[in-house]
Amino acid sequence: MAKNSMTLIDNRNSKSYEYPILDATRGTNVVDMQTFYKDTGLFIFDPGFTSTASCTSKITFIDGIKGELRYRGIPIEILAKEHSYLEVCFLLLQGYLPSSSELIEFDLEIRHRSFVDEGLKNLIDSFPSHAHPMAVLSSAVSALSSFYYEHLNLKDQSAYNEMASRIIAKIPTLAAFAYRHSLGIPFIYPDIERSFTENFLYMMRAYPGGKMKITQDGEQHIKQVEIDALDTIFTLHADHEQNASTTTVRGVASTGAHPYVAISAGISALWGRAHGGANESVIAQLEMIGDVKNIPKYIAKAKDKNDPFRLMGFGHRVYKNFDPRAKVLKKLQDQLKEELGLNSHLLEIAQTIEKIALEDKYFIERNLYPNIDFYTGVILYALKIPRNMFTAIFVIGRSVGWITQWIEFKKDSNSKIARPRQRYVGK
Ligand code: ACO
Repeated sequence: MAKNSMTLIDNRNSKSYEYPILDATRGTNVVDMQTFYKDTGLFIFDPGFTSTASCTSKITFIDGIKGELRYRGIPIEILAKEHSYLEVCFLLLQGYLPSSSELIEFDLEIRHRSFVDEGLKNLIDSFPSHAHPMAVLSSAVSALSSFYYEHLNLKDQSAYNEMASRIIAKIPTLAAFAYRHSLGIPFIYPDIERSFTENFLYMMRAYPGGKMKITQDGEQHIKQVEIDALDTIFTLHADHEQNASTTTVRGVASTGAHPYVAISAGISALWGRAHGGANESVIAQLEMIGDVKNIPKYIAKAKDKNDPFRLMGFGHRVYKNFDPRAKVLKKLQDQLKEELGLNSHLLEIAQTIEKIALEDKYFIERNLYPNIDFYTGVILYALKIPRNMFTAIFVIGRSVGWITQWIEFKKDSNSKIARPRQRYVGK
């Protein structure tokens, strides 16, 4: 019997089965049970995949107990502090941080690819004006597959790079178009003179003809501190290993569908309140609470087993300690409070909830800490980003993670179609 293995005994017939334990370079090792069904005639029952590793990956590492997150081995705190979102995109895609000339080249490519086919404007225009930007975005990204329908030569790295650059570059444009459509105002084309994050804010805020509002002291309508804060938010969202939307992207990729369609499915999966949609729900909930004096009532509702109410922006499947991204954002929130003088009624409610929940036995016992969405909700609100764009901003940040995971899936010779089994209890 190999030392690095696990033996399982079927007590019905005393048969034993041995499965190898595969080491991870960091974190939790895995038991290789790929032959389990063939060996035993049984399926493994694991709804929600709480104990299932679905792939081997070199991209992102999370230690949920320690509260650690690394992209390609580098801690998130360092990336958020010292590197731009585009550097992080390059890191995720290529496995190393770019040199200054590589960054210039990558940045230029993203700027040039930020335009979308004019036909996509007609598609977006055909949605009702009250359509949620996430619905429009998911459809528009799916539609990209019909505008750029080329078959990838999977042996060619440059084809992968091109596909990844298109995804990263075009999604902010489509997100901004979706937003402007919801207001019934003209689309603003990308401005290649502007950096990635500034350009997104510009496409959201500019007046027709690409003019920016100028304040009395000659300042433009986009402040550097806003660009920096949003860039950090994109970095913190860039990847998060096998979360629900990434698992969706890999699942769709496993059928051989076009990558744009896989990313579109990821966008839809992200929209839900239990996942990326939580940032929008955080603000909706704070508005519903309405006043600091109502907080105890809602904390009691969150703790009541007979009440489906949950405190949005609290809890995480993987982090059972403070989410490291939330730590970075808490600091950013405090910094913005000073620099932009943010002092809203909602911020006061948010900070009071945070304090009460962190000291409450129910939340402590269940390791329910504020998650990334709690702080992004509050920060984006403070940056005057419209609430219906919060999850679309998550999409922009996560697009690189999805496409990197898609590439890894495609290049892995062990990849198979995703096809789980079931325990049948019907007639
Ligand atoms: N408020 C109140 N109680 C909660 C909350 C919450 N936000 N989250 C979990 N709990 C409780 C559950 O009722 C359960 O209690 P019990 O053990 O007494 O039955 C316990 O904590 C464990 O909760 P689960 O639902 O089993 O945890 P799971 O890992 O399946 O869910 C999730 C994680 C979906 C994030 C959950 O905490 C939640 O719904 N949070 C609110 C939504 C949210 O903020 N989502 C964003 C997640 S981060 C992201 O996707 C980017």
